[in-house]
Amino acid sequence: TLAPMAAEADFAVEVYESIPSTNQKAWDAIAQGAKPGTVIIAERQTSGRGQWGRQWVSPAGGLYLSVVLEPNLPVNCGYQLTLATAWGIATALGDRGVPVKLKWHNDLILLGRKLGGILTETKVRHEKIIHAVVGVGINWANPVPTTGIGLQSFLSQQPLAAIDCLETLAAVTLQGTISGYKFCSPGGIDPLLPSYHKLFINMGQRITVEGQNGVVVGISDRGELRVRLDSQSYNSSPNSEIYLPPG
Ligand code: BTN
Repeated sequence: TLAPMAAEADFAVEVYESIPSTNQKAWDAIAQGAKPGTVIIAERQTSGRGQWGRQWVSPAGGLYLSVVLEPNLPVNCGYQLTLATAWGIATALGDRGVPVKLKWHNDLILLGRKLGGILTETKVRHEKIIHAVVGVGINWANPVPTTGIGLQSFLSQQPLAAIDCLETLAAVTLQGTISGYKFCSPGGIDPLLPSYHKLFINMGQRITVEGQNGVVVGISDRGELRVRLDSQSYNSSPNSEIYLPPG
């Protein structure tokens, strides 16, 4: 349950029935002095936010959770927040028998379909990330599009599954988020790269970047996508690598 973990890590969990967005609520809470460890959960959202300004359709039955953090990381270290927390959630679910994989750069994937996603928002002052809100949406029992998958129906085929309800999913997700967050540092997320790469479905994919062909060889310690170029081009050495930020 949420209570013992909340006590241990000093979380302050606020649960709402229906609000526009848990990320927005988290920013409102920050404006009113909310401490890191404040957690906002909604049963549904009326203006849920997705990546790149998209909408995150958020009917009842899904998990909508945001965590207030004060990372104090340099501004160019921000991507790690999304990658490390996604890794933490995938690992926490994996430990409970749900084989979640990671797709560049914020998708949680189950059986090749989208189980959920992370939206990290940051506030920067003097080149430092002073506040961050990590928002997590996971499909539980809500309706999903054909490209998506719901965890409850997946688990109904898994008799030994250790996640019995939305509240347990919330607790596991929060624990995973924090365990991933603990790896974030100005020096990067080096220690979790081997484990990240095992879950990373983009590994080995061929892609084209600005007209050049290459292959995905992993992520960097800063959370950028590493692409090894085939590199016939005269101005780069053979097998040179480029580092792509999300987006
Ligand atoms: C994505 O586009 O894949 C990221 C989706 C993130 C959705 C979550 S739901 C809880 C939190 N509040 C929001 O408004 N968005 C995030």
